Amino acid sequence: MENRRSIIIDTDPGIDDAVAIAMCLFSDKLKIELITTVAGNVDIDKTTDNILKLLKFYKKDIKVAKGSSVPLIRKPIHAKNVHGESGMDGYDFGEVDYSPLLSENAVEAMYKKIMEINNKITILAIGPLTNVALLLKVYPEVKEKIEEIVLMGGSLSRGNMGVLSEFNIHCDPDAAKIVFNSGVNLAIAPLDVGLKALVFPEDSAKIKAMNKSGEMIYSLFKHYRSFGLRNGLKMYDSCAVAYLLKPEMFEIVDTFVDVEICGEYAVGATIIDLKNYLKREANARVCIDINQEMFKDWLLESLNKCNID
Ligand code: RIB
Ligand code: CA
Repeated sequence: MENRRSIIIDTDPGIDDAVAIAMCLFSDKLKIELITTVAGNVDIDKTTDNILKLLKFYKKDIKVAKGSSVPLIRKPIHAKNVHGESGMDGYDFGEVDYSPLLSENAVEAMYKKIMEINNKITILAIGPLTNVALLLKVYPEVKEKIEEIVLMGGSLSRGNMGVLSEFNIHCDPDAAKIVFNSGVNLAIAPLDVGLKALVFPEDSAKIKAMNKSGEMIYSLFKHYRSFGLRNGLKMYDSCAVAYLLKPEMFEIVDTFVDVEICGEYAVGATIIDLKNYLKREANARVCIDINQEMFKDWLLESLNKCNID
């Protein structure tokens, strides 16, 4: 366990979440202290069931805390059209084992974990930011113990849920605004790098042939309607993990980031001020480009480690 980076994963699994989480579970550089769930791709009961299914499948003993079922203010949305009705369609995980599920909600569990461990902790946020925003508002004292919030979200350009808004931020723009203005170190893997972090059919075939985990992931891929197997499946959330484990694959800039929360057409749009028009102090490290080959090699190498006997 020496020199492992302590992390909490906040997630809305989600097929691309599942791939990202699998690589975290088998990384010798990370110590997963807690996994918290949030509504996003599907509702909170399903995202919570899905993480429990993955932990049972991978035989990992990690505590889980259930988080917010709704955004801070706005009505819930979902992405069943991308991830299927269950959020992880395509593989029969059998009965859900609820024993890892804590009685506390995600915010309480995150607070307790962050305050109890001696070292600083990194929050890996790969879903809407509702839980993280609530944590920072209810318990601001955690800020000095958070090394960094590494999140998949936002867009340098166009959106995938709104004209200019990416799904995680679009789900809860108010939460994103709280997180972006929290003063905590931020690292962001926006849509633009996810759109280049693609798994093509030849890659899916390699993943399928790896091991039982690869077979499961391949089964999920066949139901992941994010561009489709032939055109390349977008590994959005794995980009946030890649920032943690192999940041050299990215071009990264320090810049000012905020989010629109009012207006007629652009609510949820992330303002990533690469040209410093706003003359605001940088508050985030933003991945603005990715070495696609380096990503692919890293993804396949990392998934190959996700072996269960
Ligand atoms: O826009 C992509 C993000 O939305 C990913 O985190 C995906 O899992 C969905 O939550
Ligand atoms: Ca996600």
